Amino acid sequence: MEERLRLKYFITTPIYYVNDVPHIGHLYTTLAGDILARYHELIGDEVFFLTGTDEHGAKIAEVAEKKGIEPKEFTDQISALFKALWNKYDIRYDRFIRTTDTDHESVVADFLNKLKEKDFIYKGEYRGLYCRGCETYKKPSELVNGKCPDHNRVPDELAEPAYFFKLPQFKSQLIDLIKNDALLIQPEIRKNEVLSFLEGQELEDVAISRQNVHWGIPVPWDESQTIYVWVDALINYYTAAKEKSLWPADMHLMAKDILRFHCVIWPAMLLAIGEKPPKSVFVHGYFTIDGTKMSKSLGNVINPNDLLTEYPRDVIRVFLFKAFPFGGDGDFSQDLLREFYNGQLANELGNLVQRVLTMLKNYQNGVVIKQSESDSGFDISKVNDAWKIWGESLQKLQFDIGLKAIWALIKYANQYIDDNKPWEMAKTDKENLQVVLYNLVEVIRHLSIMLLPYMPDTAQNILKRLQTDISDHNLSELQKWGNLKDGTEISLGEALFPRRG
Ligand code: MSP
Repeated sequence: MEERLRLKYFITTPIYYVNDVPHIGHLYTTLAGDILARYHELIGDEVFFLTGTDEHGAKIAEVAEKKGIEPKEFTDQISALFKALWNKYDIRYDRFIRTTDTDHESVVADFLNKLKEKDFIYKGEYRGLYCRGCETYKKPSELVNGKCPDHNRVPDELAEPAYFFKLPQFKSQLIDLIKNDALLIQPEIRKNEVLSFLEGQELEDVAISRQNVHWGIPVPWDESQTIYVWVDALINYYTAAKEKSLWPADMHLMAKDILRFHCVIWPAMLLAIGEKPPKSVFVHGYFTIDGTKMSKSLGNVINPNDLLTEYPRDVIRVFLFKAFPFGGDGDFSQDLLREFYNGQLANELGNLVQRVLTMLKNYQNGVVIKQSESDSGFDISKVNDAWKIWGESLQKLQFDIGLKAIWALIKYANQYIDDNKPWEMAKTDKENLQVVLYNLVEVIRHLSIMLLPYMPDTAQNILKRLQTDISDHNLSELQKWGNLKDGTEISLGEALFPRRG
């Protein structure tokens, strides 16, 4: 890999509603952000990874009231649960933003003032439906049996004064940006979905304030109104970018539920104040659990804290991204997780590391011997190919493809052991044995670096056994074959993934 300039890379996740505790869907997006951030760090980018919580609005106020506590006290509690969970999964965000943060409140007020100065806001009346579950204005045609299908609740009927944003003025600009990928929407199917929405109908002005919702940021020039929670929330990305001049965002991550907010309203708001739109949006699919929709009423919601009582965090991190492509829908099941653990982790990865390090201990006192000419039938192009796919797939957020390439190399290394039978060489051919063991321990070093974004604990654990510190790394050096030094003393350690019944 060539040396290159240090580029800024600003990644965001949605900021999650705090009406309820975090679940596996929230974890999924946030882990994707962490994996992407770690990859970009590894290639030398200056990464800023933002996540946080969306705390205002009617829905949160309603839940807090039911619990009999002040909204801020309630949001403090739930927001802390999200933070704690991210720490448990070793998700390293650079900022955890809360829409109740004071800097955010003032950036939102400034943003709104700018929209008004530029004459993109006017006062009118909103008459229509509003689902508090999605915090979204609804059309009668979107209801099923009079209810919001996503939240199974009857929407509120509103007739109230409100401020409106003149969205339709940005229609053709948005279409151009999206068509020429200046605002890149991935996967392609989501880009087409947004384009057909934009091209298929007249856009309407968007109500951006509420009259009777007190838990929110006041409209700066009219204290009788608060800012619509989605407008408040979208601006979080801009708040976090401000201090460090990070705008535009390089990558907004989310699921398909909130595509239009991010690809229509948000870029239009930015264009209106003379700012750049985000560079790209990546939309992933939805989880089902054992084939059914995850929902509270079905009682099948997976709490990511519970998973950690059964497996180390790396197991969950990698499983979620190996199980199905990022971008499509996928299913989660405990059976598949167990199978994955015993198969790909215990039998394949864990076994490879344990076999190689044990042989090094037994046959060479744990000392790596590097011979000048080292071949012994090991196909180094397999390693280079894996690096190539690793890099290309992580650039494109094809996490499963990157993992497949890593596992193909693990399989190749295991096969190389079986073919060469080092235990026989130990009796007859010591010289070749040294070469074979070097190839194996060196391939493990490569594998651990490839695994680093996905499985940071495991990767660091292996690297430690190889006495390799990559904190002051240069990836192109690390990717060179033969980087593991002659004379390195390895430590064996426990099995990485003991088999389970
Ligand atoms: N607060 C808004 C987002 C504002 S961003 C400016 C919101 N919050 S949310 O808590 O409902 O989170 C929605 C996001 O959580 C989805 O876009 C996705 O990232 C994640 N997921 C929630 N449920 C999910 C699944 N069942 N499957 C996959 N991801 C899911 O919308």
